[in-house]
Amino acid sequence: MEIRSTVVTKPGSRYPNDLSAWQALETHHGSIASVHLRALFADDPDRFRRFSLEACDLFLDYSKNRITADTMALLVALAREARVEDWRERMFAGDVVNTTEHRAALHAALRCPAGAAFPGSGRDVMPEVEGARRRMGEMSAALRAGTRVGHSGKPIESVVHIGIGGSHLGPQMAVEALASPHPRSGNAPPALRFVSGIDAEGLRFALEGLDAETTFFIVASKTFSTVETITNAESAKAWLLARTGFPPEAVASHFAAITADTARAGDFGIAEDATLPIWDWVGGRFSLCSAVGLPAAIAAGMDVFDEFLAGAHAMDRHFREAPLDENMPVILALLGVWYRNFFGAPTRAVLPYDYRLRSLPAYLQQLEMESTGKGVGRGGESLAIGTCPVVWGGSGNDAQHSFFQMLHQGGALVPCDFLVPATGVPAAADHDDGLLANALAQAEALMCGRDLAQTRAHLEAAGLEGEELEARLPHCVFPGNQPSNTLLYAHLTPRRVGALVALYEHRLFVESVCWGVNAFDQWGVELGKELARNIATSLAGGAGAPHDASTAGLLETARRMRAKP
Ligand code: F6P
Repeated sequence: MEIRSTVVTKPGSRYPNDLSAWQALETHHGSIASVHLRALFADDPDRFRRFSLEACDLFLDYSKNRITADTMALLVALAREARVEDWRERMFAGDVVNTTEHRAALHAALRCPAGAAFPGSGRDVMPEVEGARRRMGEMSAALRAGTRVGHSGKPIESVVHIGIGGSHLGPQMAVEALASPHPRSGNAPPALRFVSGIDAEGLRFALEGLDAETTFFIVASKTFSTVETITNAESAKAWLLARTGFPPEAVASHFAAITADTARAGDFGIAEDATLPIWDWVGGRFSLCSAVGLPAAIAAGMDVFDEFLAGAHAMDRHFREAPLDENMPVILALLGVWYRNFFGAPTRAVLPYDYRLRSLPAYLQQLEMESTGKGVGRGGESLAIGTCPVVWGGSGNDAQHSFFQMLHQGGALVPCDFLVPATGVPAAADHDDGLLANALAQAEALMCGRDLAQTRAHLEAAGLEGEELEARLPHCVFPGNQPSNTLLYAHLTPRRVGALVALYEHRLFVESVCWGVNAFDQWGVELGKELARNIATSLAGGAGAPHDASTAGLLETARRMRAKP
């Protein structure tokens, strides 16, 4: 049987590459593709000032990109022609921008200040948002103060958070970014642990050494039906009841839910007053500013979480109000399109030089790749252009000692985002200087490289000569011309973390508009779930649908291994 992938061409559809600005960019690319960044800097002494801007206490230097003023003008023209401003207004106005699921995308409401209406027209969601924030504040305060008690009346000492995808990556990143390692005053907040995947080892490690009587579980799942989360939650419930001998009603004192399906949470045994809402107008990966951020409020305090929300709101306003050519999310998005579609770069690296942002690359990986990793346009037409690149990365300083070799000399074009604080919190001069020096040096080295003549001089100065020098020479040349953005900030604050989250959300939204894809659905995750259910049926001895020969063979081999471990 032959399976063909269907290419759907829709008459009348607006293909991104049909836009006149797209075609102008293709022509322009030809004139700049082989120009080295060193030459661009040599030609324009004003380049750093021209290609940098500040917003929400974040300084963006984008001068180390393979662009000229003409490139930026054409990219902004593309944004206009793709109707970015129009789509931006539609999103903020609460229009159904998630067309395949018939939903609005109102994540900006989650950080809107109390008392404001959002969206301005249509149904105002702010009363629900503020109600959820209040309850989140109460629950986190009670857990931090030790006034929330378990079934036996003992104060809760540990919190285990169960969730996956958007119900895990954001909260974990935010706890690391916002919470102090030691509480500033008063009682220590409960210890927090995270469980995400279905591998029982994850849960076993999380529960290791905990006292069930004083352990509290948060089950975060918008749908309350994600197999990994529900399996972990059921096992956690069984652990609680087996360890304590408590009756099933004790679940009400030891579990909270964050979900849009309160009925399912109720069926699980979670009390109504311990169930915090999210709504169908928030995508899971866009939900960090909702009650999904509860672990961060527990670890850092609701006052800190409110600051985080204020930072995200400030970026929302900047995105909505700044002209396109002075708009940080728009500029980053357009540079993303430039490299993905005109240089054909298939990946982009995110490199935080900030220990507290070590989980940002994983968070952004879901945020971006689940949003814009699509080959079909909004109207169902097949797109003949690349969309989301592979977003990857890691802690910048550590990564210098692992994958940076490939960035410097591997030959692939990998645009990079450097995120760098001027000082740590608290400031520690020798560490801070080392960190900043490393970050700036890497961006400089990636951009400038070191040509043959410079390398020869360098090796000669190091005392090499003759055959040895000639043999070493080609290995020590750095082509450079690797573009990067640097986001520099004084030091990490909750506000700046919030601004960064909103910056990357809006960046991908602008990219999605340029590519003509719906950023808010995720149909690509469904097939694997369906097939896993079928395989689970086969494993349980049922008659699932037939498998291909490889899957059937692996299943049979696994069965044999299970029978004889
Ligand atoms: O399977 C993908 C996904 O639906 C993500 O979009 C989401 O963040 C994650 O699973 C978890 O979903 P839920 O919060 O409903 O458990």
